[in-house]
Amino acid sequence: MTHAKISASLLGADFGHLADSVALAEAAGIDEIHFDIMDGHFVPNISFGADVLEAVDRMTDLPIDVHLMVSHPDLHVQRVADAGADIMTVHVEATRDVNWVVDKIRECGVRPAVAYSPATPVSEVRRVANRVDRILVMTVEPGLGGQSLLRETLTKLPEVLAIYEELGLSAPELAVDGGINPDTIGLAAVAGATTFISGSGIFGHPCGIAAGVAAERAAAGD
Ligand code: DX5
Ligand code: ZN
Repeated sequence: MTHAKISASLLGADFGHLADSVALAEAAGIDEIHFDIMDGHFVPNISFGADVLEAVDRMTDLPIDVHLMVSHPDLHVQRVADAGADIMTVHVEATRDVNWVVDKIRECGVRPAVAYSPATPVSEVRRVANRVDRILVMTVEPGLGGQSLLRETLTKLPEVLAIYEELGLSAPELAVDGGINPDTIGLAAVAGATTFISGSGIFGHPCGIAAGVAAERAAAGD
């Protein structure tokens, strides 16, 4: 397979030592930082916002994928882009016109991605396929770190790839988020994922961040 992209989700990090966590993850060879913004409305939790993103952007040169788990994502696109997002992932469930938001993200100079919660069929991918750089299949219900992977969600990965093929488009980056750790990452890789977002699997690894990243890379067959 091609190089597995490992994206470390800061939701799993020690918020009291974010800079250390970012530095250790970067030194361990991750490919990207994943930054979850939650508004307490689209999902029950509130995490962090654009001001913290700005601080994280100063900590690293790695690309930052901002996962918007918010209602009315369009209201936040400009500010989040200005704060340092390189990729912005928006939920199809959060907006009536996902393509409008996707185009707005692109206009801000940020790579757009679209996320599908477990209950949302990926047949919807047809509507966005030629406009986004990445498809995110949520492998848990969005809103909380440390949950167990919902195995049935993995069947969506070949479905997405089949839709791209049917449309005559080259395959997108295919990301998974939620419950990805050294025990589960291989299943996602076999199903077709190329980008692996992992919080507690990296930051909560019993032998430390470097061990978590190494274990995931090995288990992904990279
Ligand atoms: C969950 C978030 C994830 C979360 C993953 O809604 O989108 O990015 O940090 O956490 P783990 O890897 O612990 O399941
Ligand atoms: Zn996320």
